[in-house]
Amino acid sequence: MMRFELQARLTLSSDISGFSSEFERFIAEANQSILRKGAEKLAVIERFTIENETLCLWITSEGTLRPHNTLLQIKNALSKELGTSHHIGVRDITITTYTISFDLPRPPRKKVSIPFADVTIQDNQATMVLSDVSEEFLRGNYIDRMMNRVREKVENQYYEGKAEFWKLIWKSEEKPPVWNKDPTEEMERLGWLKQGPTKGKWFYRPQAAAILKTMETIAIQEVLKPLGFQEVIESHIKPFDIWLKTGHMEGMPYEFYYVAEPRTRDAADWERFIDLTKITKEVPTEELQKNLSAPIAGLCYAQCPMIYWSFKGKTIAEKSLPVLVYDKTAISARYESGGRHGIERVDEFHRIEPVYIGTREQLLTVRERLLERYKHVFNDIFDLEWQMAWVTPWYMQQAGKIGDESTQDTGTIDFEAYMPYRGTRQDSEWLEFQNLSILGDKYITAFNIKAQKSELWSGCSGIGLQRWTTAFLAQKGLDPTHWPERFRKYLQDLPEGIQFL
Ligand code: SER
Ligand code: ZN
Repeated sequence: MMRFELQARLTLSSDISGFSSEFERFIAEANQSILRKGAEKLAVIERFTIENETLCLWITSEGTLRPHNTLLQIKNALSKELGTSHHIGVRDITITTYTISFDLPRPPRKKVSIPFADVTIQDNQATMVLSDVSEEFLRGNYIDRMMNRVREKVENQYYEGKAEFWKLIWKSEEKPPVWNKDPTEEMERLGWLKQGPTKGKWFYRPQAAAILKTMETIAIQEVLKPLGFQEVIESHIKPFDIWLKTGHMEGMPYEFYYVAEPRTRDAADWERFIDLTKITKEVPTEELQKNLSAPIAGLCYAQCPMIYWSFKGKTIAEKSLPVLVYDKTAISARYESGGRHGIERVDEFHRIEPVYIGTREQLLTVRERLLERYKHVFNDIFDLEWQMAWVTPWYMQQAGKIGDESTQDTGTIDFEAYMPYRGTRQDSEWLEFQNLSILGDKYITAFNIKAQKSELWSGCSGIGLQRWTTAFLAQKGLDPTHWPERFRKYLQDLPEGIQFL
């Protein structure tokens, strides 16, 4: 059940006190014409009052036609009528109160509130009350989004604390680990790594850098090149409109590193800032704030959104399908707060992200071939103990949602490695060291990407270099002589590094 009750106040250009009977006729007519479709009442003007220049209307509907959408129609009809007969116009419309009641699939578990309205909920019945609403507000289709947001908030209450979807697909055999230490701690102790300089960031000295770069080389030589992926280079700074389209903006606003621009590039405007810095030898943050714009973008969070943006509004030639590209330049930043650990859970990481766009059939084939190449790397080159599972698709995780039993055409596969330093195979948490997704037409639609004839789908896969590195080292140790032969073909010996006194 849905019920809309709207009370509007129209201000006219002159006194209309004497026109009561004309309004009665006008409203009866409107109820019979513009508010009707055949026998069906779409909305009803229930009553009206007149006081000097002010006309108040009470409009109700069961939802077929939202009263606020009819209000402009009524305004136009009224202007026409009064204009011809009395040269009176409509100056202004305000909605004094707007009450919207609608059903929820189930009752909330706790209170729900949203901006712009007071929300009360009785069992399954939600009621939103808005007051003093402007015409612009109504044009923006906010009302329906507000109803959706209330529904979504109630639904989310049922998912809080619920385990995410996870279903095993494949598991390697057990591999005896070479050691059971935490590779980050050991690399730090050996001076291969230095933490910082800011939270969740690392400085990779030559030994650690060599291992990360080897991971990159292996991913390109063994996975991406053989499948025909082409490299692209994207910008590291993502403007908000891209994240609005992908849903990251509403899903992850607390995990971004934000980017602000100088308010001006004119040194004169920065004089005080420079003076203060020179005199105090500290950064005058308050003064800085005055010289910066509000954030307009964020650092890279995932690489695929900007790859989709680069295809925005384009029609891709059939002969270019499937599109197979990857970016390995943009570095991802995620504000992790509590979850940081070693180089495997960091605020800044290096990832290669392949993106594929093509027909459903093409993408299912791409997935098969990627899986085959990945298996080759993890089994034959890394000799890893690992497994694959269907999980909540990443875009749902990143929108703060929980996945259902997604079909196996679309969805995300996580690759997880046993981390001996964390405990037993059964009781410890395995490390998600990679993912692979097919996402249907979600981003194709969001960025209006087309082909000549084919219906397009897309997907991406995250190859995290830190994750590959820690998964490998946690099982195989830091001594290259214990590493698998096939890996040593890529990295025989570590660089000497730098000795400190
Ligand atoms: N875009 C995917 C993710 O964020 C792959 O990198 O996980
Ligand atoms: Zn992606």
